[in-house]
Amino acid sequence: MRGDRTLDRIPGPPPKDGAEAIAAAGGLHNYQRKLHAEHGPVVRLALPGGDVAVSVADPVLLEATAGIDKRPDELFAFLEPLQEAGNLQTLPADEHTPWRRVLLTVLAGRPSHEAHFARFTELTVDLADRWERQGSVELQKDLSELSLRMICAYALGGGLSPERSAHVVSAFEDVLTEHQAQPRAALAYLRGTVDDVLAAPERGDLVAALAEAGMSPARIRDSVLMIMLAAHHTTGVAISWTLYLLSRHPSAADRATAEVDAVLAGRAVPDYADLRRMTYLDRVLKEAMRLYPPGPYGARETTEEVTLGEYTVPPGTTIFYPFWAVHMNPECWPEPERFDPDRFTPEASAGRPRLAHIPFGFGPRSCEGAALAMVEARLVLAVLLKRLRFRLTPGQTITPIERFVLWAQNDIRMDVTPRSG
Ligand code: HEM
Repeated sequence: MRGDRTLDRIPGPPPKDGAEAIAAAGGLHNYQRKLHAEHGPVVRLALPGGDVAVSVADPVLLEATAGIDKRPDELFAFLEPLQEAGNLQTLPADEHTPWRRVLLTVLAGRPSHEAHFARFTELTVDLADRWERQGSVELQKDLSELSLRMICAYALGGGLSPERSAHVVSAFEDVLTEHQAQPRAALAYLRGTVDDVLAAPERGDLVAALAEAGMSPARIRDSVLMIMLAAHHTTGVAISWTLYLLSRHPSAADRATAEVDAVLAGRAVPDYADLRRMTYLDRVLKEAMRLYPPGPYGARETTEEVTLGEYTVPPGTTIFYPFWAVHMNPECWPEPERFDPDRFTPEASAGRPRLAHIPFGFGPRSCEGAALAMVEARLVLAVLLKRLRFRLTPGQTITPIERFVLWAQNDIRMDVTPRSG
């Protein structure tokens, strides 16, 4: 019967244009949380313009979607101006799979992480020096910029002069600024830089791998820009939210700092191999990304019929992955608002559904940079916690909003003092 196959049986608000309701909730991330709280784990919602989508906040039901290899074109069309050889976020599966394989061989590989570790450490120490001098800092602004510097060094190699690296960072910021008069000039500069890197004898492992896989220069330029875009706000806010939560939970901060001190044993900065020994810090970071997932939701488009518990969804349906609502699902996370890194001990994690914690998404379109991001975030946190004490500057209201990522609306201001002082 057709009635069983349409979306009408799925609970949700009255089916009218969703623009107003989404704006009233303060964005799609909040709207998804509200709808799941009101209507349960599978909800139907109208998007701006009236198209109907389905959102799924139950990690077991999500398994039925884990093989979908397509994103809805319209939701990612805003990225098209950045791309010249096809939008990498919405490439068809047959083109996406080989691209993903090349990215993963580099981005997920330990040799590549180790090769860039010393440079990442230098960049972090530079920031810690500056913060120590300043005493009062804005976390998101500075940590996003640090992450951008790291991914530039990573993707473009060490061959760029300091002036050119600084120009790349500012050109990238120009490309992302809405009121920028000349994004074309900034884009052209970035593309020209990637071409120069391609032509250089020392071209960096990522660009080299893409070139060796036979990708066109245009696709390589797109890839480098997409990776820089995907890598820096996300990692920057993950570290910011972690420092924020630690400042609100002094006993967790003491425990994380004690672990860093013990592992470093008098050294100022960690080696790559030390990161694995900071198991509590790892749990803190995971819990921070549960409470504040940098990307608060993802999306897929069904290519065939999908069964979600008692509902059947036809091909061509937009399915939202409401990462934030999944992370707040009280069936997997008792007292979901409470910060408790020990939710991630092996014992506490045993038996929890695989998709209960998905800050990097899942399936064939999940984040290729997840392993690199975890290396960067743990390194930065270890260097900062070893050196500095953070106190939330009084008088701030911290409101998460979505602006590319889940961002604190007016940044997060901290008073910073040296631990030795
Ligand atoms: C804490 C930091 C980060 C978080 C939380 C994060 C999260 C995500 C999420 C949620 C997605 C969408 C996944 C999905 O739809 O299932 C994604 C996609 C992606 N991320 Fe990340 N990311 C982070 C850092 C990075 C880094 C460092 C890189 C690269 C070096 C990167 C590269 C990408 C790429 C290329 C995609 C597109 C995936 C595809 O379409 O195949 N991300 N990321």
